Amino acid sequence: MNVKETIEKRRALRSLDPVEISDELVLDLAEVVKIAPSCANKQPWNLIFIREKRILEKLFITLSAGNKWVKRASMIIAVFSKPENDCIIGERLYYLFDTGMATAFLILRATELGLVAHPIAGFKESQSKEILGIPNEMRLITLVVIGKHSKDFNPVLSDAMKLGENQRPPRKSLDEYVFINHFDNEFLTSKGKE
Ligand SMILES: Cc1cc2nc3c(=O)[nH]c(=O)nc-3n(C[C@H](O)[C@H](O)[C@H](O)COP(=O)(O)O)c2cc1C
Repeated sequence: MNVKETIEKRRALRSLDPVEISDELVLDLAEVVKIAPSCANKQPWNLIFIREKRILEKLFITLSAGNKWVKRASMIIAVFSKPENDCIIGERLYYLFDTGMATAFLILRATELGLVAHPIAGFKESQSKEILGIPNEMRLITLVVIGKHSKDFNPVLSDAMKLGENQRPPRKSLDEYVFINHFDNEFLTSKGKE
């Protein structure tokens, strides 16, 4: 097992070259979603694998201004669900969490296969749903953009995006989000206090 290597390799890259989208690839990615965990095994996710150029081009029209790089996608995976598809425990709605976990599995598997799998939120939801025939009550949570990483920058990238192609954007330090025993204990300063 070497999950960590794949986790570390995954990047939200934006300079894409075309890649062949075979039935085998679609099935492979769909299968890892199947075995993701979900609350009471509800499996709330729905996916549309879009590889037909005509439909991809329609979707490109729904992208936000900063997502012009997506136009070089070989496939887009639309990920959608609705609250009633999953556990609702008081105010805790699990459909986004479980669908997100399953999507992470898909992204990691695509990474392992040498692909870029980049989730985006920058698209017009209702317009995209109409193009794809997704019912109104569903939330189109993300579009996962699939391609092969290109060594050459896509000319539509901003300077910040170009920087991001070569180095991972900075992260919070552990002490900003990790706590031991209690929320007001700082991770690093709590060592030895247990
Ligand atoms: C839910 C979600 C929405 C995102 N939306 C966009 C987007 O619309 N456009 C974009 O270029 N990147 C988008 N990203 C990518 C993030 O900007 C990227 O994951 C983050 O900067 C960290 O970079 P890394 O994934 O390469 O480590 C999105 C990522 C997630 C998880």
